[in-house]
Amino acid sequence: MTDILDIQGLRAGYGDNVVLEDVSASVASGGCLAVLGRNGVGKTTLLSSVMGLTQVHHGHVTLQGLDLTRLPPHARAARGLALVPQEREIFASLSVHENLLVARRPGAWTPERVYELFPRLLERQRNMGNQLSGGEQQMLAVGRALAQNPQVLLLDEPFEGLAPLIVEQIAQALKRLRSEHAITMVLVEQHAELALELSDTAIVLDRGQVVWRGASADLAADSARLASLIGFAEQG
Ligand SMILES: Nc1ncnc2c1ncn2[C@@H]1O[C@H](COP(=O)(O)OP(=O)(O)OP(=O)(O)O)[C@@H](O)[C@H]1O
Ligand SMILES: [Mg+2]
Repeated sequence: MTDILDIQGLRAGYGDNVVLEDVSASVASGGCLAVLGRNGVGKTTLLSSVMGLTQVHHGHVTLQGLDLTRLPPHARAARGLALVPQEREIFASLSVHENLLVARRPGAWTPERVYELFPRLLERQRNMGNQLSGGEQQMLAVGRALAQNPQVLLLDEPFEGLAPLIVEQIAQALKRLRSEHAITMVLVEQHAELALELSDTAIVLDRGQVVWRGASADLAADSARLASLIGFAEQG
């Protein structure tokens, strides 16, 4: 399998504050890379760096063989990266439908197709962004990114703060995106067990460095290792 997204030796941060020391990772076309790690280790900074939102001191980000390192965020989006941000960043004064149209790029993912994936959004399509539950906002954040018809979907803690039933619905949608639509993903998550189930490869970050990398199934099967890396043992 060829890697669609390749991150090589990334040293990046905010101004002089270097957060990522030397991070390398790659995702195969149609694959899902989980990025795990405790609070504040640099997971969001990694996705932000892939999107061009941080200061990169060293290293490269390559998408389908094209070096993005010097491109601004909008050019990276045009090349096929879409970010579902940790804060969701739904446009409060636009309707659900308008949120789906605002960043839309041509391709198979239309609002109608997003509604098919998340029927709840169809019911809420005329609601304003600020009239949605947290779960609906997260579905909309994923749907809005899909409507950009990206090559790679970057998801920053899509399950954070959501009730178990909603987590399950969004996890099922992500599974469908992988199995039926072969969407390539980078999934940042604190729910390590679920992220390992949804992904095929994983990295664990600690203080801006990769401290583990390998097959998700291997880490999922080694609960002692997972606990030592992430800091707690999750119960299924
Ligand atoms: N905009 C910013 N400007 C300056 N420093 C920042 C900024 N965003 C994050 N940082 C710092 O970078 C470090 C890594 O933060 P980051 O948000 O990448 O961690 P994270 O792994 O995503 O954490 P969490 O699990 O809490 O979301 C932290 O020390 C944080 O304070
Ligand atoms: Mg974060």
